Amino acid sequence: MDEDKYDVIVFPGVYSPSEDTYLLLDSLEITPEEIFLEVGSGAGLVSLAAAKKAQTVVSIDCSLDAVRNTMENLTRNNLNNNCHVIESDLLDALNNSAKFSLIVFNPPYLPDDGEHTDLDHALVGGKTGAELTQRFITQAVNHLVLGGRILVVLSTLADRDSIQKLMIKCGLIVETVSEAPLFFEKIQVLKGTLKEDHKETVL
Ligand SMILES: C[S@@+](CC[C@H](N)C(=O)[O-])C[C@H]1O[C@@H](n2cnc3c(N)ncnc32)[C@H](O)[C@@H]1O
Repeated sequence: MDEDKYDVIVFPGVYSPSEDTYLLLDSLEITPEEIFLEVGSGAGLVSLAAAKKAQTVVSIDCSLDAVRNTMENLTRNNLNNNCHVIESDLLDALNNSAKFSLIVFNPPYLPDDGEHTDLDHALVGGKTGAELTQRFITQAVNHLVLGGRILVVLSTLADRDSIQKLMIKCGLIVETVSEAPLFFEKIQVLKGTLKEDHKETVL
């Protein structure tokens, strides 16, 4: 990926692009027809890379600082023509009819260990680390076109099995597209592709 080419600043309280960001970037395959959604855009590096290639990009974050940071970096790099940035809890702010061909999320995925910092919103994904990702998947699958893909980053410290099972239950074909060692964990990017004949997700 050509992330070194971007002029990126990171606002206080916003997650700095890290190994998991780069792993997700390296897993992206974006076509010019892509209708792309990034949930949890942070400083916006993944959305910048998408805005360069996709037809349309929507970036969401629940943190207003992150929303402002993504907008600032898109503007600095003249990539704001095809991009909309929204403050939302996951996909809540989207109309039901909004459909995407690729939805990505590098979520907070660490289990809650009881220690709290100002970056919890970017790091902690719930009691087991998987809860927010599970909520994301159940929402995202309803905003995918048939054959559309979800890319989600997860850690082996979280409950990978529950995430994979949920993705399969939602009608997705699941594969691991990349992984990297990180301290005491391994981070992975899971890809879920919605079956072309998928009718309805019933959970
Ligand atoms: C690990 S950071 C990833 C940031 C950026 N995408 C990257 O890869 O560098 C997770 C991001 O998800 C956002 N986030 C956490 N919970 C969210 C939620 N419920 N809805 C939307 N965004 C959320 C955080 O504010 C944070 O910016």
